[in-house]
Amino acid sequence: MRVNAEFITSVAQLDQLPREQWPEIALVGRSNVGKSSMINTLVGKQDLARTSNTPGRTQTLNYYKITPDEGRSKPFYIVDMPGYGFAAVNQRKRADWSKLIEQYLRMRSVVCGIIQLIDMRHPPQPLDHMMSEWLQGNDFNYLVVGTKADKVAKTKVPETLLKIAESLNTDSRDTLAFSAETKLGREKLWQWMVNAVALEGRILNF
Ligand code: GTP
Ligand code: MG
Repeated sequence: MRVNAEFITSVAQLDQLPREQWPEIALVGRSNVGKSSMINTLVGKQDLARTSNTPGRTQTLNYYKITPDEGRSKPFYIVDMPGYGFAAVNQRKRADWSKLIEQYLRMRSVVCGIIQLIDMRHPPQPLDHMMSEWLQGNDFNYLVVGTKADKVAKTKVPETLLKIAESLNTDSRDTLAFSAETKLGREKLWQWMVNAVALEGRILNF
């Protein structure tokens, strides 16, 4: 898909959320799972979102405005989140981030889809389970994306995804594999986002 993508703002407190409201798609997942890399791969710009080998890189809600089809379709936001589960970030900061994420997800009514990223090299961790249960319990439009698929043997990708879906107790049809290296899953992911936005548009009459 051809899109125009621009960085809009970083939000450290909820009173800084953008006033201009478009449907929002939020990316959640452990630190270092590949959230920021996913944005760069989706939009085809390697340095739009800051990525790092050092977990804990993203410390605010970062808003990217996506305008598909060179302006013929309505824009939406992709929101990059701080990762959870990173021990070396101090306790206080971690508590601040999780509060920010939870409050954001609770109060921001324009969230039309949430993508939870799971590193395909490892089974889901306790914090992934907690997040998944909470999202499913709150009836979000929810997709699980297995990241770093390039690190898993090609033939093992489908069964690895299935195991992740089983472990998180989600429908395996709501999962897909992604790689920022090979761009696997890029078009399917766009499709899911555009559908989520269209669904929201029909409900809210955007
Ligand atoms: P935080 O901001 O700390 O929450 O991390 P993040 O989830 O945004 O992860 P980020 O995109 O910064 O990526 C973390 C590391 O994983 C970087 O070194 C990336 O290059 C690497 N990485 C991300 N996606 C992939 C992928 O699909 N394949 C491989 N092989 N490496 C990846
Ligand atoms: Mg990041």
